[in-house]
Amino acid sequence: MQFVDVCALESIAPGSSRAVRAGDRDVALFNVDGTVHALENACRHAGAALSGGKLCGRVVACPAHGWKYDVTTGALVVAPTLSVARYPVRVVDGRVLVETGGEAGVSRSTASRPPNGLAVQSQPSEAQVSRSTASRPPNGLAVQSQPTSAAARGSSDEH
Ligand code: FES
Repeated sequence: MQFVDVCALESIAPGSSRAVRAGDRDVALFNVDGTVHALENACRHAGAALSGGKLCGRVVACPAHGWKYDVTTGALVVAPTLSVARYPVRVVDGRVLVETGGEAGVSRSTASRPPNGLAVQSQPSEAQVSRSTASRPPNGLAVQSQPTSAAARGSSDEH
């Protein structure tokens, strides 16, 4: 394992997040009660930077459409079998070090939004499944996104 020095610990206060670069990876750091967690900095829905999301306890809400992730595991809160990659972190002499080369995680795959307004996660490749620690749900990884205001109105627009 190769840990890369990414920033000073004091640059990420408890309850905050920030984006860093570790090798060739964009990484989101989150400080939860003094413990720093590192995730792939790209939401599985459409790739928004999770480092820009609102952190509440151990959950970050994606700034784009609100998908929520547990930053300690990388798992999507409403569908924990889906996750972003999580990277090992060490703090040495006040510096944050991240290792991006060997941690198991699920690489972001392309999600699409069909005309019915439901976000559907595409089937992961066999390699992605083998790297995941989660099992495949019986519904084939279908995920309900946060309702949009248009979706929330639903049939009320019909006259
Ligand atoms: S890009 Fe994150 S919820 Fe849409």
